[in-house]
Amino acid sequence: IEQIIMLLVIAYLLGSIPSGVWIGKIFFHIDIRRHGSGNIGTTNAYRVLGPIAGSIVMALDISKGAVATLLPTFFHITTISPLIFGLMAILGHTFSIFDKFKGGKAVATSAGMLLAYKPAFFFLAAGIWILIILLTSMVSLASMVGFTLTTIAIFFTHDLLLSTLAVILTFFIFYRHRANISRIKNGTESMVPFGLGNRL
Ligand code: G3P
Repeated sequence: IEQIIMLLVIAYLLGSIPSGVWIGKIFFHIDIRRHGSGNIGTTNAYRVLGPIAGSIVMALDISKGAVATLLPTFFHITTISPLIFGLMAILGHTFSIFDKFKGGKAVATSAGMLLAYKPAFFFLAAGIWILIILLTSMVSLASMVGFTLTTIAIFFTHDLLLSTLAVILTFFIFYRHRANISRIKNGTESMVPFGLGNRL
C-alpha cells in the first residue's frame, strides 16, 4: 500500500511538470503564461515559441500521461487500475504543484493516458483532432470535438472505469476551454496558420 501511494504521488508530480513553461523559460527566456492564450500547453507553446518547441511540449505532455499510466505495470501492481495513475498525472498537469496549483487544459496528458491504456483510442482522438484542425484551424475546437467523439467510441468497450473517466474528462476539458468557447462564439478564437479555417 505504501508503494501504491508513493507511485500515485510520483504520477502527480510527473504530471505537475509544466513543460511548456520550463521550455519557454530555459530556451527562450519567455514565460508563455504571459503571451498568447496564456495557457501552458502545446498550442500556446507553438503560438509563442514556434513549431519545434510546440512539438516538444506536446511530446512531453503526452509522455507525462503515458508514463504515469504505465507506472503500475512497471512495478507489477495489479490491485489498482492504471487509469488512476493516469488521472493523477492529469490532475498534476491541471493543478500543478510547480505552478501555484494552476495548469493546462488536460488535452495532451489525457491523450497520453489513452496512448498507454488503449492506444486505438489515442489514434482515434489524434485523427479527429488533426482533421478538425485542418477543417477549422482552431485547435481548441479540435480538442473538444476530438474528446467528445472519442468518449462516445469508448462507451462501446463496456470498460466502465474508462467510460466514466472519459465522460468526466470531457466535461472538465470543456470547462477548461470556457474562454476558448466564448471566443469561438464571437468569432475571435485564434487560428493556427494552416487549415481551411483561415479562408472562411
Ligand atoms: O491544448 C489546448 C488547446 O485545446 C487550446 O489551447 O492555447 O488555444 O487555449 P489555447
